[in-house]
Amino acid sequence: KKEIKNICCIGAGYVGGPTMAVIALKNPHIKVNIVDINEQRIQDWNDTDLDKLPIYEPGLSEVVEHTRGRNLFFSTDVEQGIRDADMIFISVNTPTKTYGKGKGQAADLKYIELCARQIASIAQRDKIVVEKSTLPVRTAEALSDILSNSESGFNFEILSNPEFLAEGTAIDDLLSPDRVLIGGDNTESGQIAKDTLSSIYEAWVPKERVLQTNVWSSELSKLTANAFLAQRISSINAMSALCEKTEADVDEIARAIGMDSRIGPKFLKSSVGFGGSCFQKDVLNLVYIAKSYGLDEVAEYWDQVIKLNDYQKRRFADRIIKESYNTVSGKKIAFFGWAFKKDTNDTRESAAIYVADHLLDEDAEIVIYDPKVTEERVYADLEYLNNHSSEYIRSRVKIVNNPFNAVGDAHAIAVLTEWDEFKDYNWEKIYSKVLKPANIFDGRNILDKQELNTLGFNVYNIGK
Ligand code: NAD
Ligand code: UDX
Repeated sequence: KKEIKNICCIGAGYVGGPTMAVIALKNPHIKVNIVDINEQRIQDWNDTDLDKLPIYEPGLSEVVEHTRGRNLFFSTDVEQGIRDADMIFISVNTPTKTYGKGKGQAADLKYIELCARQIASIAQRDKIVVEKSTLPVRTAEALSDILSNSESGFNFEILSNPEFLAEGTAIDDLLSPDRVLIGGDNTESGQIAKDTLSSIYEAWVPKERVLQTNVWSSELSKLTANAFLAQRISSINAMSALCEKTEADVDEIARAIGMDSRIGPKFLKSSVGFGGSCFQKDVLNLVYIAKSYGLDEVAEYWDQVIKLNDYQKRRFADRIIKESYNTVSGKKIAFFGWAFKKDTNDTRESAAIYVADHLLDEDAEIVIYDPKVTEERVYADLEYLNNHSSEYIRSRVKIVNNPFNAVGDAHAIAVLTEWDEFKDYNWEKIYSKVLKPANIFDGRNILDKQELNTLGFNVYNIGK
């Protein structure tokens, strides 16, 4: 094993920030520098007001408070970070390509390549380079090419160490992961690198949960895990459509099948559709990779997971329109929630964006309340789709900072995110404010239907 005194993480995002904060917390003898080219982000990470951290995660601010300035540092000086480090994590974004070959499917690896080139040109000694970002299988080969062709002649050992944290529970997931996966070469130096990284995690993760594989298995395991998880949601959502036609109840079905120990109870919650920065991007990437190897049937199989998810989002919006006497034009629809899941301020690929966009096609007015999402974020999400002009969006969509301000004279309420607080609202008061008939579309099946019915609401659920 090598002794690691200094770690650099390139990318201070949803993964880099929390992951490195926990590594720093559990390895006080290692100095951890998180670097990023986004100045605002670094400034926010360094803000003395912990409420201003760029990412909201339960428990994160406590970990940052404990470690920042001790052995955790945030900086825009990427070069210095690389120079000082014994080990470099690359945790930059790998979004779906929006141009050229593979547009709309392949992962865009330009940020990864930039990092590799920068490391190659700056490093003044041997380094272990860790892929933390989610990458297509065989990306390590490209990294290795770039690094080994640098003039320096230094040895760069490349490891794959994908991250399995889920947003909203990132700190808990990091503190007690189901497993930590480390892929690397089976050479002597590869084994040393793997053991070195393992020892950093073993500062708090039981040894038997730190799994070593070859680098390709590790890269592909991450895409596989996300594909399986996304597929489970699309599977239960497919059944939800059938439930709505047959008087079966999707939550009862989830319970019934979840008790089969081979299926298991988790990740069977039917919803308005999965969102988040990972599932769609990674499944599309898998589809692209399969196609590029000529495996068309494999590609089609996984593509269906995405198609079903798009169908689910569309179905929800269509239901709102249908139950509003087939028109929402000029009608006010109150959205409860905009984030892609509860306990996060992240909105990437949130189902809410697509439902809103569809309702905007029908000339609806939308008033949004989300406990953590800002007004500018909502506008940026809708503008990014490029379906409606910024003026149109801003004239039709309003964001309020209090749920009761969203519901006055609303024709319908739609629950898009499963924030706990929605369950505890004074629904009697809300009933008095909305237009009648009072319609609620519960896209997360979290509200007490019976109670709401008693108050006078019509409640439309997913899969019931
Ligand atoms: P993010 O967009 O929140 O953060 C990435 C950061 O990298 C940004 O702040 C960006 O400015 C920075 N960056 C990009 N290029 C850079 C460069 N050349 N030098 C310095 N900084 C640079 O992304 P994220 O959500 O943290 O995801 C990062 C990776 O982790 C992705 O590959 C993603 O698929 C994977 N992942 C994400 C999650 C998740 O829940 N968000 C979970 C597991 C894995
Ligand atoms: C996911 C993976 O879970 C995580 O392991 C990986 O590292 C990153 O991608 P994340 O996207 O942060 O994490 O959240 P997750 O809890 O998986 O939820 C993703 C989406 O699926 C959310 O929109 C959520 O609401 C939805 N979902 C989840 C359901 O609709 N039903 C479920 O049963 C579970």
